[in-house]
Amino acid sequence: MTTIQMSVHPEDLSQVPQGSERIPDAGILVIFGASGDLTKRKLLPALFHLEQVGLLPEKFSIVGVARRPLGQEFAAQMRAGIVEFGGVEAGDPKLDDFAGRIGYFALRFDVPGDYAGLKAELDRIDAEKSLGGNRLFYLATAPEHFAGIIENLGAQKMAQPEHGRVGVVIEKPFGHDLDSARELNRQVNAVFREDQVFRIDHYLGKETVQNILVFRFANGIFEPVWNRNYIDHVQITVAETLGVEGRGPFYEKAGALRDMVQNHVMELLSLVALEPPSSFEADAVRREKLKVWRAIPSIPILNAVRGQYGAGLVNGEHVAAYRDEERVNPESGTETYAAVRVEVENWRWAGVPFYLRAGKRLRKRATEISIQFKQPPLLIFNRMAASGPCQEILPNLLTIRIQPDEGIALRFGAKVPTTPNMDVCPVNMDFDYAAAFGKSSANGYERLLMDAMLGDQTLFSHRDGVEINWALYTPLIEAWAAKNPEKFPNYIAGSWGPECGDHLLERMGHRWRNDLGRKA
Ligand code: BG6
Repeated sequence: MTTIQMSVHPEDLSQVPQGSERIPDAGILVIFGASGDLTKRKLLPALFHLEQVGLLPEKFSIVGVARRPLGQEFAAQMRAGIVEFGGVEAGDPKLDDFAGRIGYFALRFDVPGDYAGLKAELDRIDAEKSLGGNRLFYLATAPEHFAGIIENLGAQKMAQPEHGRVGVVIEKPFGHDLDSARELNRQVNAVFREDQVFRIDHYLGKETVQNILVFRFANGIFEPVWNRNYIDHVQITVAETLGVEGRGPFYEKAGALRDMVQNHVMELLSLVALEPPSSFEADAVRREKLKVWRAIPSIPILNAVRGQYGAGLVNGEHVAAYRDEERVNPESGTETYAAVRVEVENWRWAGVPFYLRAGKRLRKRATEISIQFKQPPLLIFNRMAASGPCQEILPNLLTIRIQPDEGIALRFGAKVPTTPNMDVCPVNMDFDYAAAFGKSSANGYERLLMDAMLGDQTLFSHRDGVEINWALYTPLIEAWAAKNPEKFPNYIAGSWGPECGDHLLERMGHRWRNDLGRKA
């Protein structure tokens, strides 16, 4: 298929806004579970990126909290993480100063007495640096500690202080089914008001995910056709080449449906399907997302399929079967691939299938949304060839590439030059983020951390949204748990998943788009 490149001319770039001018107030970011991977791979590199572009307040401290007695060593480890994972030069002149802002406090999450010590330490830093009592607690621990930490913060009166603004960021997974999510929400809201709570879904930090709203509502030509009159179906794929990366015990309890579909994929779906919000304020956006999720009827078991990878070749390398991964049950029934068909029963979408899939150890790493438009009714032109890319006159397809190769492509039919007939071949108009705006080293947490410090909840999940999605998926999760799949493993690592995934679409006369990624 031919590709027409779309790019921004260099002179246009001076017109591109270079970021927001909002800078949070002075304060302390307290990271629980700070010795884990997330802190050094994502959070600290993101904070340093914010520092580099002058978006962190001058008076700002970071305190890592975890069980191990790390002391000074913690700041050194974080400095190394920023260099390794943040694409930062080891000699960057800002690194020393930044490392100077990082402290550490050893605490046992389940020992109430330790929190008095933490409070005293935070008060000391606050007084020394005049930080105004503003604090953001970030829970990056294993999920079983969330409730205990929150309760202890409440008991020490750290959640509702007399001075300053306090918030809490809670990493995923937020519960493991509807009941546990409700219980966690109850525990959280017993200590923090809902406007202090930031339930994170890191997909919402991705530029390309935020761009879905800009694409739909800052352009005049797409919205009129963004409905069941013109759209045939929607596919959302989150394909990973990675396996479980040493997280066996966590993944055994999670599986693809809980880990990816119930949260990240459903967030993507809501942005594709929502009605125009009245503003980009948290309440307005979250209200429209809720309406989408509420319009999804329960998912019949026949509209959901699961898979688990066996050994195979991924990117030319031999990889083990899921059941042979470290600390995984050799007879595990956990799914590493899940696909579902859902409907959004409202005036805009009724009758348009949304196919969602997420899987590990698939052929290619790609997160993409494809909007397939209806075929024109009367094909008065010829297809060009009996084989090859021009063998079919294909319907218009809009592809939003979330990652990697971030961009947007629109497929349409074009007349093939020089032939005497009106032969048609599909071509692509392609917008490439990196070509237009330059490659960014941001990892998505920059925006989320910034917004949480500013108290902006637009890109965070509301308690109702979390519960609605659990309510939708819990019956499926329970049905799958009650019946162990007989035929696992049912796909080879490095393939596009199990055959039952293909059948799910074939039944409706559709097929997965597997030519993901940017066309050369
Ligand atoms: C996490 C999941 O939420 O998202 C992981 O727990 C998954 O299993 C990861 O690998 C994928 O994130 P990204 O940003 O690499 O697509």
